[in-house]
Formats: sequence, structure tokens, C-alpha cells
Amino acid sequence: MSDTPAPVLEDNPVYLANSQRAQENKPPSRGTPLGAVAAARFRADTHEEMVAGIRSLDAGLVAGQFGTIHYKPVTVCGIDLKLEPLQPSIGTVVHGIDLARDLDSPEMVTFLRNLWLERRVIMFRDQNHLTHQDMVTFARHFGELGVRYGEPGHEPNSPRDLSNQINIPGVPEMLVLVSDERAAGAASAWHCDATWQKRPPMGSVLMCREAPPVGGDTCFCDCYAMWEGLSPETKQRVEHLTARHVGGVIHQMDGKTPESIHPVARTHPETGRTVLYVQQGFVKGFAPEHGIAPDEERALLQQMKLQEGRLEYTCRFRWEPGSIAMWDNRAVLHSASADFWPHRRRMERLTILDHDEARRTPYYAPAKP
Ligand SMILES: [Fe+2]
Repeated sequence: MSDTPAPVLEDNPVYLANSQRAQENKPPSRGTPLGAVAAARFRADTHEEMVAGIRSLDAGLVAGQFGTIHYKPVTVCGIDLKLEPLQPSIGTVVHGIDLARDLDSPEMVTFLRNLWLERRVIMFRDQNHLTHQDMVTFARHFGELGVRYGEPGHEPNSPRDLSNQINIPGVPEMLVLVSDERAAGAASAWHCDATWQKRPPMGSVLMCREAPPVGGDTCFCDCYAMWEGLSPETKQRVEHLTARHVGGVIHQMDGKTPESIHPVARTHPETGRTVLYVQQGFVKGFAPEHGIAPDEERALLQQMKLQEGRLEYTCRFRWEPGSIAMWDNRAVLHSASADFWPHRRRMERLTILDHDEARRTPYYAPAKP
């Protein structure tokens, strides 16, 4: 069993502020995907009616497994693993491993790292027995442990971020994301984590402690395919441009919104391949030095945005308590699906920094023809 009791939030001022609409008996705003999908599921004028309606739709769901999947059996360090590809190019669930016990061998770590580089994101099931410290130990096999938003030195302290109010004793690096009936929320825009930092984290590890009975999946999108999918004209125009990545209100530090400039085409520092490094969750435009006119900027951003979330580039991961995803922030975007309200969802995240400091700053080194 997990040693991770749910945080107590009922007296927390940020939780109460985020619960304002619920206190006024108003359903979530239909101006957000979360509110729109809730209204589409059950039409009601009050919070209470909508919650009751959606809960009745989802009543009677039980956990179970059926059906077949295709998987590749492999044996690593004497351990029989089953590798389940979620989509042809992206995402593999690794079955048959205990992350608290089976990573002592460098060979297993190397195997998982290579799989992670190849598949952009790898997932695990049935790991709810991992303690917070076990999660730290797991993350450290792949790099240096980052703080909540990656590199130390920028640690958001926005009083509006509920996750800032939650502390895991002994593991200050862990970000806890809780959403429930009263304070709803999900990171439901395509993004890589903390690209408003000068040196964004290499990877993220996300553990699910409490899962909704349906919904709340996380989707991942392949940034290599996003680059390949641009027209030759757009590629040529944007290849040497840089873009402005601006954090949100919850990422403010001492009231200041963080911002960084990164290349539009980025060379993955380990695979050497090119990714489209524009995630319109954070990218607000091109660097001013390029002098790009607003009309052209809009058109180019639109071209790039058309690549976000194309079905063929994405995979979707269904969470269960104890499911873990570890993704490469240099090669995939991710987005939570904000469709699970009013159910509860509790996640824990760690970030991983590259051991090699020279590889942490995004750069573009075009391949020689
Ligand atoms: Fe994220």
C-alpha cells in the first residue's frame, strides 16, 4: 500500500478561493474545456445538480481488465518484461517491473533510458507501493533531481497556486496536483514542463495516487513528428527563429512572470534529431529581434499549432492508482484531459535534470546536408 495520505485542503485559503464557484453553487465556467465537457455531459444550472447528474452517469463503474493487447516480450537482467506500444511512434507501457526493486542493475537502467529516448514517454502500472523516497530514487537513476519546476533558482511562489500550498515532508521537490469537485483543474493545454525557464527540465515523472473512475487521461504528442509535419516553406521560414515562452500566473516568483527565449527548431541533445519546440501553452510569439510583422507571426503560429495533437502523433494514457509516466520534455508535449470533473484526481510529479549541464540549454545545430 501507498504511504501517501491525501493532503488536507478544506481550510486552505487557496483551495477555498479556487472553490468560489462551488460555494456559490455555480457549475464550472463553460469557457473552459472542463466546464464545457461537464455541461455537455449533464445540463444543469447549479453546481449541486450538475455534480449529482454526472455522478449518476458514472455510478456503477468498477475496475477490471479485459480484451487483448499486442506486446513485445523481452528479458532484461533475468526479468521478463512485456512492452506494450500505445501508438506506433510514441509511448510504451513497461509491464512486469517493480520500480522499487528492479533498478539496481545499470543494465536495466540503460535499457529503460534507451526505450525512453526511442518512445519519448514510457509508463508503468501497479507502482502504488512506491514511497515518495522510492520515487526520488527512481528519478535519480535517469538524471539529477530537479525542484518542483526543474532547475533550482526559479521556484514559483505564487499565492494563487494550490500546489504550492501542499508539502510532502522530506521531499520538497515533489509537486502535488489535486483536483476535486470543489476546486477543479487540469493542465489541459499542450505544453512541455517549465519551458519558461532558461534550462527547462529534461524529464518529468508523474505518479497517480487517486484516479477518477473515468477520464483525466494524459495525452502526449511527438515533437519530432510535429517538425516533420511542417511544410517545407514553413520549416525554412521558422528554422532559425527563436520564440518567447511565458509562464502563467501560477509560475510567478515574487510577483514576476518568468519568460525565456528558445529556438523554434531544437536539436535533441541525445538523439541529434530536430523537434518543433513550440508549445502554444507557453509560447506567445517570436523573439522581438526577428522583427516579424503581427500578421505573419499569427500565420506562422497557426501553421505550427496545426501540428499540436494530431492523432497520428499522439498517445493517450489512462491512469490508475499506481500508474507512472516518465516523459522526455525535449521530445513530447503533454496535456491532461479536463473531462473528469467532478471526480477527484491526485497526482505527484518530480522533474529530472540532465546530468550533463552542457545539454540543459535548448539549442539548434542543423544537421549537415
Ligand atoms: Fe505539465
